[in-house]
Amino acid sequence: MRVKARANSNIALIKYWGKRNIGLNLPAVGSISITLNELYTETSVDFKAGLSQDHLILNGQSASASDTGRVSRFLDIIRKRSNTGLYAEVISANNFPTSAGLASSASGFACLALAGSSAAGLDLTPVQLSELARLGSGSAARSIFGGFVEMKKGLESDGSDSVAEQIAMRKSWDLRLIIAITSEEKKKTGSTDGMIVTRDTSPYYPSWIESSENDLAEMRDAIRRRDFEALGELTEYSCLKMHALAMAAKPGLIYWNNTTIDLIHMIRDLRKKGIPVYFTIDAGPQVKAVCLPEYVGQVRDEIRKNPGVLRVIETGLGGDAMILGEEN
Ligand code: PMV
Repeated sequence: MRVKARANSNIALIKYWGKRNIGLNLPAVGSISITLNELYTETSVDFKAGLSQDHLILNGQSASASDTGRVSRFLDIIRKRSNTGLYAEVISANNFPTSAGLASSASGFACLALAGSSAAGLDLTPVQLSELARLGSGSAARSIFGGFVEMKKGLESDGSDSVAEQIAMRKSWDLRLIIAITSEEKKKTGSTDGMIVTRDTSPYYPSWIESSENDLAEMRDAIRRRDFEALGELTEYSCLKMHALAMAAKPGLIYWNNTTIDLIHMIRDLRKKGIPVYFTIDAGPQVKAVCLPEYVGQVRDEIRKNPGVLRVIETGLGGDAMILGEEN
């Protein structure tokens, strides 16, 4: 049976950086994200007789050996759990640039967890799906849920409590994100390699871990109170703290380009002019501006004035990962 699913991407407001277990993708810190409506992956999976290996079509093309290998290793987990020996045909597409700091691995593995487990006949709960998705990519555990989502660091060595949960519904607070694409190139250092070098060499790593619980508590509180200024200040703080931590690794990781830095200053200048807008940036050069609906037009127009901005994507909060269809 072929099963097709859709999962939205997400952006962390309180960042995840660092793993307490590499193999199981267990995070060293918790994180809080918002799920994004306009950025998503759609994936269909069909476990079929007669295949001698898994086949992956990614964005309309036969995928590279490394992308296929990563998907195959993930499907091995599903095969083991469902006692299936069959290989799969996987067709997956993102409606946004892949691997440029827009969390394509988050929506990608959340979607593969849902489509793959259903195609193999497993009937997993959302929490079980989150745990499965985490094995593909840490941030994917959050993309199973819509709205405001918290990923728990967890304490168990098997990762059973390193799962995400929804902390507020998408309809509970209408936040908007304006994403400035400043480069469509693949990033040079992937998040896993970046996290390893950071853990091993950055002198700030212990304080990053130590201070994270407080950031999570303050963000939960800001979301509960719908305090936009508190949410924005914490979002920028967590973003800059993560990048400073990674920049202090040996060799230092710099995910930004010139336009990234120009936009940081521009967003802070807009605030001085009375427009409440805050930035966040993941392991790539794109800048994501968070604001309330009434400021979207002004923020978008200002961002577009920068000649280094290739294009702009606007989005509100998205819902849970979902099955789109099944066919025999
Ligand atoms: O899920 P990964 O392994 O791609 O790591 C994501 C890391 C950041 O995007 C930089 C932060 C986050 O919490 O999403």
